[in-house]
Amino acid sequence: MPDTMRAVSYETYGGPEVLQLATLPRPAPGPGQVLVRLAAAGVAPLDWKLRAGLLAAYFTPAFPKIPGRDGTGTVVACGPEVEGFAPGDAVAVMAPPAGAAGTCAEYIAAEAALCVALPKGLELIESAALINSGLSAWIAAMRTARVQPGQKVLVQAGAGAVGGLLVQLCAHLGAEVTATCRSTNADYVQGLGAQRAIAYDAPFPTDLPPQDIVFDLMGGVVHDACYPLLAKGGHLVWLTAAPITDRGADYGVTVSRAMIADDAGVVADVLALAAQGVLRPQVAGILPLDQTALAQDRLASGQVTRGRLLITP
Ligand SMILES: NC(=O)c1ccc[n+]([C@@H]2O[C@H](COP(=O)([O-])OP(=O)(O)OC[C@H]3O[C@@H](n4cnc5c(N)ncnc54)[C@H](OP(=O)(O)O)[C@@H]3O)[C@@H](O)[C@H]2O)c1
Repeated sequence: MPDTMRAVSYETYGGPEVLQLATLPRPAPGPGQVLVRLAAAGVAPLDWKLRAGLLAAYFTPAFPKIPGRDGTGTVVACGPEVEGFAPGDAVAVMAPPAGAAGTCAEYIAAEAALCVALPKGLELIESAALINSGLSAWIAAMRTARVQPGQKVLVQAGAGAVGGLLVQLCAHLGAEVTATCRSTNADYVQGLGAQRAIAYDAPFPTDLPPQDIVFDLMGGVVHDACYPLLAKGGHLVWLTAAPITDRGADYGVTVSRAMIADDAGVVADVLALAAQGVLRPQVAGILPLDQTALAQDRLASGQVTRGRLLITP
């Protein structure tokens, strides 16, 4: 195994230009860590927002920072006190957002507690689209909204990485799912299990029945537009995005933030559903490691659609 690795890193907040492809020392797994040779990394909204300094109120990244919140790869070595993993295991990896180590690298020394064995039959690279987005969708649907069969559920941003998995999960739970997306993605979200697609780039229809649950993945004006769509007593569930103003009391609805925290048990459940064919990973595209800046820039400018953009180190 080489002593060095290729990785993308940045030393200061800024635009995509602060991301540099560098040769760094290959990390060694400490106690409770596994060394993973990465096959793919997800490019998430958090990556560019963190790099741009927009999340400085919430996270203080350790510089130099390697971006990449999640990924998949193969265990090549185990540090002391690691149980349950061995070299050769295919794993999903979560990298804490503020830590120096990220997944846009050839290797990561990852906490074993934040790794999950990939079930047999799942493809190593495309499974990287299921990790943080699957965790977010699962927590929002199962813990926060507690979606029940027959409920009318609207997913705002159903063609995104989290939204696409939310559509699939809610349809699997027996909900009657509607999803918003750009007009050219209507067939796509219906293919994921939405009974109805509503284009956000066309006039909003007036015949949508009152919804039991609305998932807001956008915030801002999209959040404001969610309230009149809910039935009295309905539930508006939002994930961190643009600012929101809670108007639940005005409309007689419950407003909850889905609290997304890394959880290996949840990711294991998501991967198990994928292995059963219930959830299909949605990959928006795949770029090499030296295109990480381009990938973040495309995401930040709204050019990424239909799932998660992946980097292959
Ligand atoms: N810790 C957390 O709380 C947490 C975790 C994960 C994600 N999030 C947040 O959840 C959001 C979604 O994440 P993601 O990874 O799924 O992002 P993403 O893959 O970039 O998806 C964004 C989607 O937004 C859709 N969109 C844009 N404008 C819209 C509008 N006016 N109405 C409806 N949809 C619109 C786009 O749909 P089209 O492709 O059809 O144009 C796009 O697919 C982000 O804001 C992210 O920060 C928070």
